[in-house]
This record gives sequence, C-alpha cells and structure tokens, in this order.
Amino acid sequence: MVAPTTTPTPPAPLDLVIFGGVGDLSVRKLLPALYMAHLHNNLPAQTRIHALGRQSWDRAVFLAFIQDKVPGFIETKAFEGVAWQGFLDRLHYVSLDATQPQDFDALAAAMQPGSERVYYLATAPSLFTAICANLSAAKLIDARSRVVLEKPLGHDLASAQAINDEVGRHFEEQQIFRIDHYLGKETVQNLMVLRFGNTIFEPLWRSPYIKSVQITVAESVGVGSRAGFYDGTGALRDMVQNHLLQLLCIVAMEPPVSLDPDAVRDEKLKVLRSLRPMTMADVATDTVRGQYSAGASDGDAAVGYLQEANIPADSNTETFVALKAHINNWRWANVPIFLRTGKRMAERRSEIVIEFADLPFTIFQDSPRQSVNRLMIRLQPEEHIQLQMMAKEPGSGMRLRPVSLNLDLESAFSERRAEAYERLLMDVIKGRLTHFMRRDELESAWTWVEPIINGWQQLNEKPKAYTAGSWGPAASSALMAREGSSWVEES
Ligand code: BG6
Repeated sequence: MVAPTTTPTPPAPLDLVIFGGVGDLSVRKLLPALYMAHLHNNLPAQTRIHALGRQSWDRAVFLAFIQDKVPGFIETKAFEGVAWQGFLDRLHYVSLDATQPQDFDALAAAMQPGSERVYYLATAPSLFTAICANLSAAKLIDARSRVVLEKPLGHDLASAQAINDEVGRHFEEQQIFRIDHYLGKETVQNLMVLRFGNTIFEPLWRSPYIKSVQITVAESVGVGSRAGFYDGTGALRDMVQNHLLQLLCIVAMEPPVSLDPDAVRDEKLKVLRSLRPMTMADVATDTVRGQYSAGASDGDAAVGYLQEANIPADSNTETFVALKAHINNWRWANVPIFLRTGKRMAERRSEIVIEFADLPFTIFQDSPRQSVNRLMIRLQPEEHIQLQMMAKEPGSGMRLRPVSLNLDLESAFSERRAEAYERLLMDVIKGRLTHFMRRDELESAWTWVEPIINGWQQLNEKPKAYTAGSWGPAASSALMAREGSSWVEES
C-alpha cells in the first residue's frame, strides 16, 4: 500500500515592524543584530523588516540613510557585500505618526498576506498606548502576533502598571516580550549553567557559606548624547531596577524545575518578592548616590556630569548607585548583597563576586593573610570565571597567599558568540519567552525600588561627587567596610 503523501505547510511569512525604526537603538543595535541573523541564515526565508519613522522618506532615501549609518555598528569582519545587499532587500520603510490612526493603513498595506507579525516598540513608552490601540483598530493584531517592549518600562510602579494595563488590553501576556538586554548576554545565560549545570557550587551557594555577594556594572562612558533621557532617569531607574536586579535574580534564585519560561520566571519572581523592603533608615544608611565630577576616562580628560551638554547645571540626578540589599529567605538570610553601578567609572566592568565565609578557625597563626575564597564571574568586557583560593607561599614557614583558578570562556569555545540583541530577537521570532520579563517580575522590581526613590526625595541630599575615572564616592567603600567586606578592586 502506498502511504498517502502530505504536502508540508510552508511557514508563514514574517513581518518584523520596528516603531522608532530609524532611531538610535534601531541603528546601533537592532538592525545590526538583524543583519547578523540574516548573515547566518537564521531569519525565516520570507522575513520583511519594516522600519517606521515620522520622516516622509521614500525607500531610496531610507536605504541611503541605512547605508550611511548602520554598517559602522557591524563588526568589520562580519560585513559582507552580498549578504548586506540581501539584508537591504528585506528592509522597508513606512512613514507613520504613531498617534495617527489613519497612518496605520500604510503599514497594513506593507504587510505580507497571512504573515506572522512582530512589533518592536523602540520608542518612548508614552507612545506605547497609542501604538497598541492603533494596531488593534487597524486589525493588525492576531493570536500569533508578538510585541516587544523596550525599557524603560515606566518611571515608578504606577506608570509601569499603566503601561502593562494598556498593552495588556491588546496583547495576551504570552505575546508580550519585555526586553532586558542583559538577559540576552551569553555570559548572563551562562550563569544559569554555572549554577544549575554543575553540582560543586550548589551545596555552598547559601548562608552561612557565603559571606557576601557583590554585583558591579561599571561603565567608563559618561552620559554621552542621551542627556535628555538620562537626566530625568538616573542610575537607579536606568540600571538597578532592571539589569542589576535581573542579575541578582539569577544569582539568588532556587533551581527552576525546567527552562520553561514560567518555571524560570516564577523563581526569579520569588527572589524579587523576598527582597527586604528598604525603610527610610535603610535608605539613609545602606544606599549611596553619586554624580561624577571632572576627571579622566580611558586616558582622556572628562568633564563632570553638570558640564555635559544639555544637563542642567544644578541637576540632582545620580550617575552612580551603591546599595546593600538583603533577601529574606532561608538561603540568603544574613548575607549582604551589594549592588553597584555607575557611569564614568575607572573601567568598563560587569562582575559578580561571591565571597565565601571566613575560616571558622585557623591553624596558620603565623600567616598575615587568611582565607579569601572568592568566585569571580566577569561578564564583560572579558568573559571569565576565577576561583580564588589560598595556597602556600613557597619557602619556609606556612604563609598563605591567594592564587586563582582561571577559566577564560572566550578561548574555551571557538563558536561565534552572538550579541545580546541578536539572541533576544531570535527568541522573539521563535516565540521563546524565558529570557524576557513577566509583568509581575517587572512590577515587583519597581515595588522594591520605589521606597529608595521616595527616600532619596525625602532626604533631599545632593549626590556625592566622585572623580570621573574612579570607582565612585568614598561612601561606597564605607558601605562595604561596615560589613567587613570590600569591593573586589580594593582588596
Ligand atoms: C542600557 C542603559 O540599558 O544599558 C545604558 O540605558 C547603559 O545607560 C547600557 O549604558 C549598558 O549596556 P551594556 O550592554 O553596554 O553593558
């Protein structure tokens, strides 16, 4: 008997629509990431990318703009003429004012028949409501559609809830991809493997074997050309509320039962909900706000924050935050967690340091140095893991000296490492939500951060000055010293 033949259904075409398509994020990150996905044949065959902007350009003007701006953000060795031309063929431009319902007709006309649609909202969040409502009114949303929301998602809990409510009117939660690009970084994803793909750390990954945790995301750049956005935002909202708390979640969460989106996000949510709420007294003693003053950065003179273009001379915005947090659960009781981030710091460095407990008793009474066991996970610019242990100093006597086991992840693998945005865009295209924030996670993060914002308002203090090119204000070191710890570069 001859088996009946079935014709496989061809995959639906994909329309990827970028609101803010000729803006900074699109030019610097999204289009280069999509080019890389195209170069490596990872985009579905019938993918069209629609960049949306308010300029009334025709396609030729748009392509000239892309040709001029985007290649500079693609690694030279990955730039190939034929692939680039193929990528340009996928690009389309729609002139559209997101607040004007009738402009969405042109978008509808540009879509491929029967396509799946991904809408990337790389605009100010104040436009999210209008965009979703207008997409809906133009019947451009169906059960297969997905929407990607760029940060900042609100400036406090109420505004984040309002955005979530509005977007939620038009998209189901499983269609909403709230992006935190740190979750797309190879090294951040590797943290999950370090913790849950190895058995050796887990028994020690808790109180009282861990003395403290430090998470640093330091940048050497200043505010750059983003004064308008940054001055109303500051380091707490720009970095701590999202990137640092997400890193903390991965460091502190319980093992999820699987990598299913909700299994992972349930565990992260528990961490956020276990963060001890900051009282006014905690805000005064356990947080440090800083602002850079003139100094040097990467060998060049750097102006202070208040002298940067378009920053008001009396701005009170913080460019640095250090704080001590606590997680109220069995695993982390009494382990101080230090978070620190800033612009114009001594170097670009993102790092997690797990400091293990002191020896309960030492037999090496003559050694000036005692145990310093640390696991240092460098996320960027290099990707490496160091385990600091004590060894005997050669020679007579029993003196201890720290030495490191080093794992250089870049040289351990020869495979290409995709940038965060490329990886996350591919997740969106494939409908994988694990590395995106769920609504309750985002709102819990705001719930914890909000008392800090309010506390600072009540305290009404100027941020502490730190010299550009340093590791932040002295108060940041003092915060650590009070717990008998120090930032890793000071020890
Ligand atoms: C962004 C912040 O989310 O992250 C920026 O808005 C910051 O202020 C950037 O510079 C840092 O990202 P990365 O990937 O360079 O560490």
